[in-house]
Amino acid sequence: MSRITVIGGTGYAGSAIVAEAAARGHQVTALSRSLPEKRIPNVVHVVGDVTDEATLLAPVRGADVVVGAIAPRGPLAAVFRDAYRTIMRLAGAAGVPLFVVGGASTLRPAPGADRFITDLSHIPAELHDEIRAGAAIVLEDLPAAPASLDWVFVSPALRFGAKMPGERLGRYRLGDDVAVDPEGGAISAPDYALGFVDLIEKHEHHRAQVNLGH
Ligand SMILES: NC(=O)c1ccc[n+]([C@@H]2O[C@H](COP(=O)([O-])OP(=O)(O)OC[C@H]3O[C@@H](n4cnc5c(N)ncnc54)[C@H](OP(=O)(O)O)[C@@H]3O)[C@@H](O)[C@H]2O)c1
Repeated sequence: MSRITVIGGTGYAGSAIVAEAAARGHQVTALSRSLPEKRIPNVVHVVGDVTDEATLLAPVRGADVVVGAIAPRGPLAAVFRDAYRTIMRLAGAAGVPLFVVGGASTLRPAPGADRFITDLSHIPAELHDEIRAGAAIVLEDLPAAPASLDWVFVSPALRFGAKMPGERLGRYRLGDDVAVDPEGGAISAPDYALGFVDLIEKHEHHRAQVNLGH
């Protein structure tokens, strides 16, 4: 049993990870600005803003693993990278590994090929800032973090999110920075969470990007 803090633990990805981790008997804390309508048994909710460093101290220092599941949208869009830099600094200082819910844009369609993000022409322009902010976390900020920070950036398949249908199949495929399904495959939140909590429990990856697809 591990103490797992999920920052953004009431969101699309975060709530699935919280549910999966709690179901396996981990001691889970979920941080968000508001409480969820539906509470998951045995989950401690902390209400706070990730931009307030004081809010983060106890949930990070009191954890064995921290999960970042916030999104660069709304008020957080402008300070998303700053918020993650604070989380990285606190987690690194506390010796707590950080597992980040990332995006698919930084994956490659094939070994050695350009990342998807090099051509966003087929993606609606209103999503470009969100995609670029998320990409900067794994392309710039995490690699620049001191070696004391152990991190894993977990990209989902290209089709993932609240607007995508998704059922629990009870399986997933794991890859590195090459998409396991480069043809635009999907993964549901429950199956992403299944793979995500397996990654936490096995902890075989260090300072690395991986991806989960069906
Ligand atoms: N295919 C893809 O590449 C793909 C698709 C979807 C998502 N993603 C990525 O996955 C990640 C998670 O996305 P998501 O869709 O799961 O996000 P989401 O549903 O919007 O959830 C965001 C979570 O963060 C919390 N939050 C927001 N602002 C906060 C703040 N200032 N302080 C504390 N908590 C805050 C929210 O709760 P409150 O609002 O109550 O605070 C919620 O729990 C993002 O990086 C996103 O870009 C990638």
